[in-house]
Amino acid sequence: MSKMLASITAVDGYVPDTVLSNQDLEKIVDTNDEWITSRTGIKERRILKKEGWATSDMAAEVAKGLLEKSGTNPDEIDLLIMATVTSDMIFPDGANTVCDKAGIKNAFAYDLSAACSGFVFALYTGAQFIQTGAYRKVIVIGVDMMSSIIDYEDRSTCIIFGDGAAGVLLEPNKEGLGIRDAVMGGDGSGRQYLHMKAGGSLSPASIETVKNKEHFVFQDGRPVFKAAVSGMRDTTKKLLDRNGLTTKDIDWIVPHQANIRIINTLASQLDFPMDRVMVNIEKYGNTTAGTIPLCLWDYEEKLKKNDTLVLTAFGGGFTWGSLLLDWTYG
Ligand code: UT7
Repeated sequence: MSKMLASITAVDGYVPDTVLSNQDLEKIVDTNDEWITSRTGIKERRILKKEGWATSDMAAEVAKGLLEKSGTNPDEIDLLIMATVTSDMIFPDGANTVCDKAGIKNAFAYDLSAACSGFVFALYTGAQFIQTGAYRKVIVIGVDMMSSIIDYEDRSTCIIFGDGAAGVLLEPNKEGLGIRDAVMGGDGSGRQYLHMKAGGSLSPASIETVKNKEHFVFQDGRPVFKAAVSGMRDTTKKLLDRNGLTTKDIDWIVPHQANIRIINTLASQLDFPMDRVMVNIEKYGNTTAGTIPLCLWDYEEKLKKNDTLVLTAFGGGFTWGSLLLDWTYG
């Protein structure tokens, strides 16, 4: 009998209705569609404007969608992990709020904070609970409401980020298909390039921190760009090597959607065809933990049983990870 693996058995997503286009941004900051498109590949992003809604509401829509699509009773969910850096509050964690809103009553739930690598971290974590036989039904969601921490007067960040959520249901698979392996990592010294200065225990919120705009994303883009390309390339190579695979054995690469130039460079350095790389950055921008599951949601109909995928991410922390999986339906 082959080893029991955790496999993805459903995917769902949620993006807000409000569209913020490059043309809209031209009216807010000193930028233009040509610069944004050529430097990032982004044309528009979604912004959550629904009265009283926050990150947990987007995630709850995903959880409800997953239950409905898979015909699962909410009481059967054992664990829900929400990858995010924009939970509703600093505490309590938002994952339990998501369970409450989605009618999930028997689950152990928690947030996982690994910025743009959050979904890959959470997926690999969730998979362990299934592989060990501890749990049978695990929901993993990647979600961020980046608009809640973006300075819409800062043209270097406001053009990049957007809001959105997507996630998967994980269940045991005895056919040998599912999450096979992952190469994960981090380097805390990279925190200087991408962070939010205040609001945590290091610098609690004060009139000064608000005045100094320290509750917004700070990013030094160039070093992050370079580290993202090499990080995703090297972890993907290591993952393939140690599983005796080459890029020819891979059907799809699903990269974090931070910048189309990062994605193009990664594909070219791995000598992998762009038409097998999932890309939707043009319509959602960078939704941080949301990008990879939003790609799976958008491309779900193209995926076939036995397709081999590499999910790869790099982000704030620094954090990174590449994960190898076989698709189990379609
Ligand atoms: O998801 C988490 C990980 N994050 C990433 O992977 C992001 C990685 N970094 C990037 O994607 C890119 O570095 C950015 C898209 C953030 C910036 O692109 P860049 O090509 O690195 O531009 P830059 O910051 O070096 O700026 C080039 C020029 C500057 O002008 P000068 O100094 O050359 O006169 C900027 O002031 O472009 C200017 N600029 C803009 N111009 C028009 C910066 N932002 C804008 C803008 N519109 N929105």
